[in-house]
Amino acid sequence: MKHLLGLRELEVSDIESVLSLAVEMKKILKQNVKKTNHLSNKSVVTLFYENSTRTKTSFEIAAKFMGASLSGISVAQSSVQKGETLIDTGKTLDALCTDVIIIRHNVSGAPHFLAKNINASVINGGDGMNEHPTQALLDIFTIIEERGSLKGLNVAIVGDVKHSRVARSNLWGMTKLGAKVTLAAPDTLMPEGIERAGARITTDADAAVRGADVVMGLRLQLERMKSGLIPSISEYNEMYGLSKRRVGLADKDVMILHPGPVNRGAEINGDVADADNSFIERQVTNGVAIRMAALFLLTRGNNPI
Ligand code: CP
Repeated sequence: MKHLLGLRELEVSDIESVLSLAVEMKKILKQNVKKTNHLSNKSVVTLFYENSTRTKTSFEIAAKFMGASLSGISVAQSSVQKGETLIDTGKTLDALCTDVIIIRHNVSGAPHFLAKNINASVINGGDGMNEHPTQALLDIFTIIEERGSLKGLNVAIVGDVKHSRVARSNLWGMTKLGAKVTLAAPDTLMPEGIERAGARITTDADAAVRGADVVMGLRLQLERMKSGLIPSISEYNEMYGLSKRRVGLADKDVMILHPGPVNRGAEINGDVADADNSFIERQVTNGVAIRMAALFLLTRGNNPI
């Protein structure tokens, strides 16, 4: 792999390569090793046009743990504010001997466009409403770590599907690995035609959750909504929020996932987010292993670690 842009274009074997390498990376992390030399002669740059806590920080931690030279561009203080284009920014980073650029951008397809026009490897840290591949990989990793496989599992993804790159990446990745994915959202927050990607769709959150092995809540992305897509936060919470009652309809061993950041009392209630069967913090921890694996594969291929 030269780039990691989305799970839509990945083969099952590519996904499995990242997941199995992440198992090895997690073993290293569990030994509390915070310095390896896997990326000792590599330069990694984060280029985030949108806010992030988890993705940016865990990529930074992964790159530092592996000994890379790491730089972060603060877009608000960069020459982007003087009108520099994405390609010119990318070419500048090429000229600065960058090996990997991790980009988050509000425009769907921006990482793909960058990848076509520069020499460095590009990792998509989230593009508009399109994909967030490392988030889905860490979600999938977390489920497999608990359940051994995704084959035959019923996964309910509930919430603002329309604006969610996490939902799209998970749909591509989970269905490729054999899960049955149901998406639940009000009509106003369900993208047209998403069922063609292999999802079952419903407006009934209770029906989606009933008997599910995994329930993932999605953040209500108010910043991407024009207006009028939901009546009110409290009504939305009643109809689509993950409450004790609603997740009680799922399988008794259900795993609760959420990509974060969490809006308590909107798409998920605090008691569900903090329950023993919530894997929200494990997801964050696993994000470092997945991002270490992705950085390794893009820079060193399938060589042994
Ligand atoms: N899940 C996720 O992408 O979180 P951040 O926006 O904090 O990176």
